[in-house]
Amino acid sequence: MKEIVFIAHPIPETGIDRLRERFEVSVHPDIRPLETPALAEKLAGCSGVISLLCDRIDGAVMDRCPQLKIIANHAVGYENIDVAAAKKRGILVTNTPGVLTAATAEIAFALLITLTRRIIEADRFTRAGRFIGWDPLLLRGDELAGRTLGIIGMGRIGQDMARKCRAFDMRILYHNRGPVDPETERALSAEYVSLDDLLARSDAVSIHAPSTPETRHLIDAGALEKMKPGAYLINTARGDIVHEAALADALAAGKIKGAGLDVYEFEPKVTRGLPDLENVVLLPHIGSATHEARDRMSAMAADNVIAALTGRTPPNLVPEMTER
Ligand code: DGY
Repeated sequence: MKEIVFIAHPIPETGIDRLRERFEVSVHPDIRPLETPALAEKLAGCSGVISLLCDRIDGAVMDRCPQLKIIANHAVGYENIDVAAAKKRGILVTNTPGVLTAATAEIAFALLITLTRRIIEADRFTRAGRFIGWDPLLLRGDELAGRTLGIIGMGRIGQDMARKCRAFDMRILYHNRGPVDPETERALSAEYVSLDDLLARSDAVSIHAPSTPETRHLIDAGALEKMKPGAYLINTARGDIVHEAALADALAAGKIKGAGLDVYEFEPKVTRGLPDLENVVLLPHIGSATHEARDRMSAMAADNVIAALTGRTPPNLVPEMTER
């Protein structure tokens, strides 16, 4: 009998087709995430699952799925999975690193330039028929060239954002768990600084860190207070890194000039107050939403499942899996 693989949401066919060649595959047809008990029920009897970042998989769920050998997250982040609990039960956990780097950095850059050049406002203005002729005083924004970008989290995506912003002649500061290797630092002309220094010196701050207990509310009222007056904030990483109520207050007070968010503290809910503000651009978590990235994520998640269920080590085990 074929082993069963459950896919918790519709994903691009690339990965589904690969899995169907070997396993019995069941795809949950609804884009709304399954509640934990329903997910556990679906997983009972399955050997593998492809999960999304909105599927909470903890030890209790795992205990109800004795045949489960692999949880392949269709995302680079994996804070939705209790990796320690999986490890204890001999269940492998994988993610999709590397394949969504350019896509996510592109959306971070898009948010940055959308804010600084007032693109949404300008589009609304034109659609409303208010463009009556070229006007030297109309919709002036802030030039990126010569300004300073502060990157929080200098992993793959942070580095790619740095590269893109270097091409626009920005200066790069970064804060990370530790400095990146000197060669990368040199190539990006990036300066490693403390968080306080970064907040005080950056004209725009872009978050690219994972969600961990250490990064939760890293950008709270105190941090926002330390930011340069009139700076911009971009978050394409995880919502809980920003205290969104404090951000809404700072934006309403004009302390922060604008914010571009692709992720939310209480995702998919958007914190009250934010949608009422003109100086905010809100996206529905589409950082990796290119055809290329999503196809690669789907294929990568499937390859991880295939490896695990055919007795090989999946290529993209999350780092905690290999730590002793
Ligand atoms: C991830 O991969 O973690 C993103 O947030 C979704 O692409």
